[in-house]
Amino acid sequence: MPSSVPRHFSGLVAIVTGAGSGIGRATAVALAESGARVLGVGRRQAALAETARAHDGIAVLPVDVRADGAAGRVVSTAVQRWGRLDLLVNNAGAASLMSLADTDHATITDLFDLNVTAPSLLAHAALPHLRETSGAIVNVSSTYGHRPLAGGAHYAATKSALEQLTRSWALELAAEGVRVNAVAPGPTETEALAAAGLPPEDVRRVRAAERERVPTGRVAVPEDIADWIVRVADPRGAFVTGQVLTVDGGLELS
Ligand SMILES: NC(=O)c1ccc[n+]([C@@H]2O[C@H](COP(=O)([O-])OP(=O)(O)OC[C@H]3O[C@@H](n4cnc5c(N)ncnc54)[C@H](OP(=O)(O)O)[C@@H]3O)[C@@H](O)[C@H]2O)c1
Repeated sequence: MPSSVPRHFSGLVAIVTGAGSGIGRATAVALAESGARVLGVGRRQAALAETARAHDGIAVLPVDVRADGAAGRVVSTAVQRWGRLDLLVNNAGAASLMSLADTDHATITDLFDLNVTAPSLLAHAALPHLRETSGAIVNVSSTYGHRPLAGGAHYAATKSALEQLTRSWALELAAEGVRVNAVAPGPTETEALAAAGLPPEDVRRVRAAERERVPTGRVAVPEDIADWIVRVADPRGAFVTGQVLTVDGGLELS
């Protein structure tokens, strides 16, 4: 662990979903480097094992967050292991490109199950523990949670829903000391586009087009986003709740 990293999360316990790759892995590592004990969740055991190898403070649980009973299992695993829960990072998510002309029931349902229902049930399961610790939830949205996305309306709609859940839960829980915020990444170099089914040449084309559009001239790396998830989650930010912080190199301004 780099000695320069301040350990603001010492003694705290976090759950990070989607921790086997991309933003989730970078967030699990950043939180562990800041002193937290982290339960990383995802479906692929090998990917999670690689995340766990990055830091001693990370334990992992292979689980599909959409499965029946998954939320309770995830939360009780963290609490049984470490006796408390201070932070839930709802990061697992997927994009899907689907025009209105091609819209089908299964794709809509799958997207909402993963991007909206699973984070809701995880937050529900975490709540009693977060009340005890005056803890926090950070939801991972997208620039397209608050901007339209032609050809990806349902992805945008799921992230928009997540942003409204963020604000509504923040208001509902503020008096109990539980904070709820969201970080909305712009284009970030991860497996997301491949996971959405794009062939490699299309991934390269989309990323090149995004690079052109981002005012700061590059797409993010996962650590750019993880850094802000950690800052938003930091207990020293106790007066910030219900906010959606866009981290996109200025894309939404253009
Ligand atoms: N990359 C971008 O440009 C970008 C931009 C804006 C927002 N975001 C958001 O950032 C978040 C992280 O995405 P990423 O870019 O880091 O992509 P990623 O590398 O594909 O990460 C998504 C993670 O979610 C996990 N996951 C997917 N379905 C799951 C399920 N049913 N149960 C448990 N875990 C599941 C995946 O692991 P398994 O497949 O092993 O389960 C994977 O590790 C997502 O919410 C995404 O919408 C990304």
